[in-house]
Amino acid sequence: MADTKILAMCGKGGVGKTSVCALMVKLLAKGNGRKILAIDADPAVGLATALGIPVRKTVDDIRKGLIARIQKGESPGGQETSKLLDYEVFEALEEREGFALLAIGRPEDEGCFCKVNSLLKDIIGDLSGNFDIVLIDGEAGIEQINRRVMKTVDHLVLVSDTSAKGIGVANTIADVVNEKKAVDFTSMGLVLNRVRDLSEVNDIKARTRLEVYGWLTDDDLIRSLDFRGEPLTGMPQTSPSLAAVAGIVDRIFGAGMNSPCTPACHAGREDT
Ligand SMILES: Nc1ncnc2c1ncn2[C@@H]1O[C@H](COP(=O)(O)OP(=O)(O)OP(=O)(O)O)[C@@H](O)[C@H]1O
Ligand SMILES: [Mg+2]
Repeated sequence: MADTKILAMCGKGGVGKTSVCALMVKLLAKGNGRKILAIDADPAVGLATALGIPVRKTVDDIRKGLIARIQKGESPGGQETSKLLDYEVFEALEEREGFALLAIGRPEDEGCFCKVNSLLKDIIGDLSGNFDIVLIDGEAGIEQINRRVMKTVDHLVLVSDTSAKGIGVANTIADVVNEKKAVDFTSMGLVLNRVRDLSEVNDIKARTRLEVYGWLTDDDLIRSLDFRGEPLTGMPQTSPSLAAVAGIVDRIFGAGMNSPCTPACHAGREDT
């Protein structure tokens, strides 16, 4: 199995998780040989929209289809079901230049189909093993990512705007994660968005124990792409926000993630 690195975005609603995640995908997918999987774990499929990808099929569609077959007594069960799900998830994968996208869809409805859910989680886990970097964009907390997508993540990225409320939510998520050991991770840090100047960053640093990975300013280009309903993949390479995200990626993964992939990157992987 490849040494896959899994990163998940968390934070208060509307602070810029999806925008930062989409810029990370754009940056990492620029063709340096690394395989990138973007997972849109937001029911509103915000990441797919930010990447300009219409979603045809979600993991939830697959789940519902299987549950309907089980209820009609049409599911073969066992290995056969697992193989079929594997195929369906692969089919739901939207492949683009330099990256692939998987949309999770809506949260589970009432009723316990734990076996189906854990089967799908295993399939997502196996699929992720074929990629170098997996970027997960979700709702506010880590719990739903944990429950619906992935048992463990390597890097937890807490995004916040400069509001006390946003920072408060990031601090609370960090406390819950630390106290409850809700998720295994190797690093956790804060990305500040829509920052006005350095004094705001320094002020916030004094109010959090979290490492600040970096910050983005309020960006008219993000605003205008959003205004026109255009994907963030349209951001020019010279964009200061993209440069800020490059710094954040280096901070998280170590410098060099943007440089070409060596054969060692894919050592031991079945498809290489
Ligand atoms: N740096 C920025 N400059 C200007 N506008 C921004 C910036 N970052 C995000 N926005 C805008 O703020 C809004 C919310 O951003 P985004 O959807 O990325 O947040 P989110 O945290 O993913 O929200 P949700 O919790 O609803 O998923 C969007 O309209 C986006 O275009
Ligand atoms: Mg979002």
